[in-house]
Amino acid sequence: MSPASMIAIDGPAASGKSTLAQRLASKLGYLYFDTGVMYRAVTLAALRREVSIEDEAIVTEIAKCLPIDVRPPSIRDGRKYDVLLGGEDITWDIRSSEVDANVSQVSMYPGVRQAMTQLQREIGLRGEVVMVGRDIGTVVLPEADLKVYLDASDEARAYRRYLECQERGEGEPYQEILRSMRDRDRLDSTRDLAPLRAAADAIVLNTTELDADQVFRRVLKMAQN
Ligand code: CDP
Repeated sequence: MSPASMIAIDGPAASGKSTLAQRLASKLGYLYFDTGVMYRAVTLAALRREVSIEDEAIVTEIAKCLPIDVRPPSIRDGRKYDVLLGGEDITWDIRSSEVDANVSQVSMYPGVRQAMTQLQREIGLRGEVVMVGRDIGTVVLPEADLKVYLDASDEARAYRRYLECQERGEGEPYQEILRSMRDRDRLDSTRDLAPLRAAADAIVLNTTELDADQVFRRVLKMAQN
């Protein structure tokens, strides 16, 4: 049998989605597409223009004409790709705590989601893709051949994010990361449109006690069956 061609990976913040997706994509020779980057880029663009994040009309306008591009990494500083906004490298700017604090509000707006989902679906339907997000298995690519929903305890996820920040030389305290992550998860899973949840046909994996290798090997087996 040929391997799954459209692979959807969803789950809450820092559940290990991007590590898994990147390894799967590289093993299978597929495109790795992290949809969170798009919501983060809209948020950064809105913050930079100093518009109110509460202003749905303006934020939606920004989303509709977002000059975003994602390319293979040009610098070896731990990044998995370059994210460009109007040609400017914003790869690390979209990971700031300010973006973290506002991105769930931005991604609630129907117009923002519509613009992002349409583009994501076009890319996903070409196949040979590992797509990561919150609503890939439920809304963006319900026809995916393999759907995985990753979860882990709040503490394990916050600790992973804390280590990532440390590696980048950012000193954000663990407790602060835990608090902000819980806020974001709450907003993401209770919004009306495309909330964070496992698709009925998704395989749910709790990774609290699993390391990245174990998760990768399990899901690769599923993808190849
Ligand atoms: O890396 P992490 O899991 O912390 O977040 P992300 O995947 O970069 O997503 C950032 C935010 O974008 C999420 O908290 C959601 O609010 C939003 N998002 C979404 O609504 N739908 C997606 N498919 C992907 C992200």
